[in-house]
Amino acid sequence: MAAMKLIALKSACKTASFHLGSQKIPLRRNYVRAFSAIMSPPAMAVVYDQHGPPDKLTRIVEIPPVEIKANEVCVKMLAAPINPSDVNRIEGVYPVRPVPPAVGGYEGVGEVYNVGSGVKGLFPGDWVIPFPPSFGTWQSYIVKEQSVWHKINKDTPMEYAATVTVNPLTASRMLKDFVQLNAGDAIVQNGATSMVGQCIIQLARIQGVHSINIIRDRAGADEIKENLMKLGADEVFTESQLAVKNVKDMLGISPEPALGFNCVGGNAATLVLKFLRSGGTMVTYGGMSKKPVTVSTSSFIFKDLSLRGFWLQKWMSTDKADECRDMIDRLLVLMRDGKLKYDMELVPFKDFHSALDKALGKLGSNPKQVLTF
Ligand SMILES: NC(=O)c1ccc[n+]([C@@H]2O[C@H](COP(=O)([O-])OP(=O)(O)OC[C@H]3O[C@@H](n4cnc5c(N)ncnc54)[C@H](OP(=O)(O)O)[C@@H]3O)[C@@H](O)[C@H]2O)c1
Repeated sequence: MAAMKLIALKSACKTASFHLGSQKIPLRRNYVRAFSAIMSPPAMAVVYDQHGPPDKLTRIVEIPPVEIKANEVCVKMLAAPINPSDVNRIEGVYPVRPVPPAVGGYEGVGEVYNVGSGVKGLFPGDWVIPFPPSFGTWQSYIVKEQSVWHKINKDTPMEYAATVTVNPLTASRMLKDFVQLNAGDAIVQNGATSMVGQCIIQLARIQGVHSINIIRDRAGADEIKENLMKLGADEVFTESQLAVKNVKDMLGISPEPALGFNCVGGNAATLVLKFLRSGGTMVTYGGMSKKPVTVSTSSFIFKDLSLRGFWLQKWMSTDKADECRDMIDRLLVLMRDGKLKYDMELVPFKDFHSALDKALGKLGSNPKQVLTF
């Protein structure tokens, strides 16, 4: 259990008290006092000292034990994914990012290892996720205030609990926040193989909403289409299949989608726009191709399309944080019941750098990399 460190203080000092973190320790001349501080175990962490290429700058280091203060919780991490935004934070191109030296990672799931003396309602063995997510989840033990931990049921598979906060929550919010969708409506999206994309397909299907999905041309595209259809996709196209002037006439798509999602940019974003009906909205939430979104003048004039953006981090810092927690709990139930699934590969923490290479796309397309501790 908790590492206990006995600290003996021999007062030779003339001051009446001193502060150790948040504790005020009284001192008297020639008075010897012993107190115990609850300490975390030493942790292994992925750290980076400056912004730049993650594969060059990240290293696994040991972090010494830290004191668990009265209102703090020490969590033994169980699993944490490598998301594109984690990569962007290390690169230094994400708008909100920790100042290096920093520990990587943003979401994950862990088990409470020990709690400070003032913590109520959380006990060793409970499962928690950081919510709102906070920096530094690629670390075997984390000590943070109780308020950042959200207790969850332990009946969800660990890798789903570790990944619920960023991508499934994004999919869920985006289906809710832009256009009122009713059963029988349709949406269109690119990047359908992404974790967000897979969630959009399934959450849309649960609502009775059709999904039209665009994937990039790549080896195994037929198998990918089949897998997405099994998840609940209504249509799946590669970009090259859609290289025709009038996409909708050729395919006879009905109903026409009022809402589209773009996480790729470039040609893949243009294709989403082509599918949208007059007055439709495209929400951009990612830019995986690093190419800009280009919109034809006629799309604006004759189709009156709207272009919007979504950023989960901004959303979670609003007064809707409680609503987000409820949404997460509902998503966890869907995951537990097998109604929300996506591809993941579990990788032991010590193999972080091979998982990172896969997440960076250096080894072609791979499932979401989830580190296990
Ligand atoms: N705005 C927000 O709040 C928010 C929240 C969550 C996620 N996101 C963004 O959503 C996107 C998807 O995230 P995720 O974690 O779900 O993704 P993921 O599971 O890690 O999958 C990566 C996706 O990107 C595609 N991709 C990779 N490199 C590409 C390239 N050069 N050109 C085109 N497509 C490429 C992959 O296609 P293949 O399968 O063909 O390799 C795959 O669909 C990311 O841009 C992420 O930053 C944004």
